[in-house]
Amino acid sequence: MSDASAVNVSETNEPEGVSEALQALLADVEKMSAGAVGAIDAASSIEALEELRLRFLGKKGAFAELNRRFGSLPAEEKPAAGKELNERKSRIVAAEKAARTRLERERIDQRLRSEAIDVTLPGTAPGGGHLHPIVQVRREIERVFTGMGFQITESPEVESEWVNFDALNFLPDHPARDMQDTFFTDRGHVLRTHTSPNQIRAMSATKPPLAVISSGKVYRCDADATHSPMFFQMEGFVVDQGVSMAHLKGTLNEFVHALFGPGTETRFRPSFFPFTEPSAEVDIRCDWLSAGWMEILGCGMIHPAVLTNCGIDPEKWSGFAFGLGLDRIAMLKYGIDDIRHLYENDARFLSQF
Ligand code: DAH
Repeated sequence: MSDASAVNVSETNEPEGVSEALQALLADVEKMSAGAVGAIDAASSIEALEELRLRFLGKKGAFAELNRRFGSLPAEEKPAAGKELNERKSRIVAAEKAARTRLERERIDQRLRSEAIDVTLPGTAPGGGHLHPIVQVRREIERVFTGMGFQITESPEVESEWVNFDALNFLPDHPARDMQDTFFTDRGHVLRTHTSPNQIRAMSATKPPLAVISSGKVYRCDADATHSPMFFQMEGFVVDQGVSMAHLKGTLNEFVHALFGPGTETRFRPSFFPFTEPSAEVDIRCDWLSAGWMEILGCGMIHPAVLTNCGIDPEKWSGFAFGLGLDRIAMLKYGIDDIRHLYENDARFLSQF
């Protein structure tokens, strides 16, 4: 072959005089690369693009196939054909890269749109709680008595047998001391069975005159619809000179009227408690009850022995005391028929008060 007939595809772009294999190869390169660039530009997802990349540029892809055919071209046709193949390939590679950049940006934009949070939307308000009905009643009663000049004190839930029973004038064989009625801990201590021990603690700690209320949990071995092994009491007492039953009645009537309404009738019934003499129970008239009267508290004049046990001279000082069940008052006030509702922490029940 002379120089004149030598092929220079890139310069002349003239197919004449070139081998049939080269002509076919160039035609296929042209066709394939145009198709590839078109498909890549139109790819609508990164997954689809990846598929196209493998189909055209992968090891077993269309370009690899063309490369194999390139291998069997006559040696003198290879440089020009190789150059053409490389150019076409780099155009596909560039198209693939551009498409990838575009699709990745689209994916990010799409995520930003779908995951956008509107920070101007109003939030969800957390469910508001409120005070337990027993706490509401306790606070209401505290307001009434502090309004009359009483002060509030506290005393422990685990109490010595002496303070819980002996100092309050319970005789050694009193049934309340029975294991059946009281939770005993070790070494002469009990879970206090009432809030009356507060009288002993307050009177032993502070000289009269005294007007004190105190409330908290008390414990007894008892459980049914109207008794819970743990319940709430409030204790109150006054010690001063010349304190009489009249002061007791006046104070408790005032309390009942403040809590249940000014017209509420009360009844003082004689009763017995070891730590008071005389003792009484107070009922209020409840028209909605068939019985007509409902007991709400125990009270009396503080027994001289109790004053003496606290180092207070009963010849000089006298006092009255009262104790009430906060659960019972809450049940009466809100018409609750089962004490256990108060302790089950069922929000559907508690949210009514
Ligand atoms: N502590 C008595 C009880 O738990 C209640 C009580 C009655 C308290 C009379 C008093 C009182 O202060 O004078 O049943």
